[in-house]
Amino acid sequence: MERNLLFPQVGGFVHGGDYNPDQWLDRPDILKEDIRMMKKAGINSATLGVFSWSVYEPEEGVFHFDWLQEIMDNLYEEGIYTVLATPSGARPAWLDEKYPEAMRVDRNGVRNHHNGRHNHCMSSPVYREKTALLDRKLAERFGKHPGLILWHISNEFGGECYCPLCAARFQEYLAEKYDHDIDKLNHAWWTTFWSHRYSDFKQIEPPFTNGEHSIMGLNLDWKRFTTYNMNDFMKSEIAVLKKITPGVPVTTNFMKLYDGLDYRVMAKELDVISWDSYPKFHNDGESLYDTFGEAAFDHAVMRSMKKDKPFMLMESTPDLVNWHPYNKLKRPGIHLLSCLHAIACGSDTVQYFQWRKGRGSFEQFHGAVVDHLGTDDTRVFQEVSRVGSVLKQIGPAAGSVVKAEAALLFDWDNRWAIADMPGLANESKNYEKTCMDTYKEFLKLGVELDVISSGDNFADYKVLVAPMLYLVKKGMGDKLKSFVENGGQLLATYLTGYVDEDLLCYLGGFPGDGLTELFGVVREEIDTLYKTDRNQVCFIDGTCAQVNDYAEILRVKDAKVLASYQEDFYQGTPAVTNKQYGKGCAYYVGARIGQEAMQNLYINMLHAAGMEQKSLPVGVEFHVRSREGNQYQFYLNVTEEEAVISGVKGMDLVSGKTVNDTLVLPAYTAAVVEI
Ligand code: GAL
Repeated sequence: MERNLLFPQVGGFVHGGDYNPDQWLDRPDILKEDIRMMKKAGINSATLGVFSWSVYEPEEGVFHFDWLQEIMDNLYEEGIYTVLATPSGARPAWLDEKYPEAMRVDRNGVRNHHNGRHNHCMSSPVYREKTALLDRKLAERFGKHPGLILWHISNEFGGECYCPLCAARFQEYLAEKYDHDIDKLNHAWWTTFWSHRYSDFKQIEPPFTNGEHSIMGLNLDWKRFTTYNMNDFMKSEIAVLKKITPGVPVTTNFMKLYDGLDYRVMAKELDVISWDSYPKFHNDGESLYDTFGEAAFDHAVMRSMKKDKPFMLMESTPDLVNWHPYNKLKRPGIHLLSCLHAIACGSDTVQYFQWRKGRGSFEQFHGAVVDHLGTDDTRVFQEVSRVGSVLKQIGPAAGSVVKAEAALLFDWDNRWAIADMPGLANESKNYEKTCMDTYKEFLKLGVELDVISSGDNFADYKVLVAPMLYLVKKGMGDKLKSFVENGGQLLATYLTGYVDEDLLCYLGGFPGDGLTELFGVVREEIDTLYKTDRNQVCFIDGTCAQVNDYAEILRVKDAKVLASYQEDFYQGTPAVTNKQYGKGCAYYVGARIGQEAMQNLYINMLHAAGMEQKSLPVGVEFHVRSREGNQYQFYLNVTEEEAVISGVKGMDLVSGKTVNDTLVLPAYTAAVVEI
């Protein structure tokens, strides 16, 4: 079967990372040494120019690109490809001095001074114009360079701007959204409350710190607008590049579960998804298995935005970072393990921030492949070189994809709505954590979950879990019904279907939009528990589980009661139900209960869906990538003990040995078994 490689030029997995030679232009000896060392470490790609604006254009209209030409040529001659960034992630000082309107205004209405990076006003016409000019010049000069494989748009888009231009764009956005009818907005935002009716779109302001926050619809529409405006800026950069280099793919690097932008909107504009992963390995109080589990969830969020192709691990540290609360070294072996973990979860690249440590300024002590020591005999350099050779060994797996039959529903709108919902207990809402915990339970069962949005096609899956689906867009009810009707196994929990996409409560019973019929239950109240409160639910098979944080009081219409509350004034009332609906089954879990009990429900669902689960030793992660005719099974031992896994047959591409039933994995190691 033909391999669908992300970058056919590279011929396999990409191994590389951010390279900032512009910090070393006065040291040709170092630039020469870089290439020698890159080859030694098995590096085949370098990400250039991420923050190079002030070197490209040291003064307005004066451009210097020869240095980049030389670097790209030299790299290419040695078989190292270029991911070329547009430098819009940080502005030169002359730009802010001359055009202060390019600097962002914060939530207090105060304009920033020139500082840091990632702080531009996305509405600023002059910023857009200056960016477009530089992008055009880069595309014209380097667009046909044989070493160029990808455009990397800006860097880690994020943040908000409250300047008058952005406020005006927000008003235009709202006018457009509500058909220029202020009463439609008044209805959607329920503004008659506290005398908040607007008579003109011009009266609406962004949610300044000392401004309007009591209208949930305004807060949510501001978040949506920020995504819209950032995406619009990104699209303006992409348009320039695509016009000149239509054949060169584009990406931008996303961040871990970044809350400020709905990445699913931006993903539509990109050819490939890439992201920057910096897990807190070895942090106090968390097992390594949990840290890896969380990273697997993060990878799944990214992977699921474009399921038909691999994603890119655009940045990771070969060593440590300098911005965690405690900046601990990755222990020996963890680097290769975490790289294989990203590959196992669907990445076709392992890329670092950064190649060589800078001498000064904020990132001088951030980990890099080459230390200030400058030699190729350091532990980190050797671990990176090992990754380089293992990526070659497992090369046949490049281009294969993860195909999940189960999915978890996770919407940005929903996370924004839950975070802003007045009620419950802010410290225990934990929407993201609840999704991650759910994901981890499936991981223990060796079952891969995609992390999808309510806009995705549910028919691709047999099992769907939707924790805390508070915001249910109109139409979702029918979509979920037809999923179950056609044989799907669905599980929803407390807090499902309280509000629609305008954040207006459903009338006539939650879960709304027709879901009371699907689940056969109606929620009447929700109780918020203190940490010291105690309650339990007991199942009909006699097992019991503790209730934490939330308990809904349910009326059962026509569902089977699986468990009931044991304490309090709602003792004896139903807590967990299921209902056959068409060919499938819909579970409703009205309380936050222990994961062990949840796992039993998941097992029932998998069983009914005819899906296999695996029996894995504790602390072993399992993932599968495939393409027609080939399957690659990844086993990762993320514990400090040896793990023995039986029932494994095939060729382990990492060790080069055939496995015949028993796979023995020493601590912190992984196998990639080709079958
Ligand atoms: C990323 C950023 C990089 C570098 C890195 C350090 O967020 O994109 O430029 O700063 O963090 O960990």
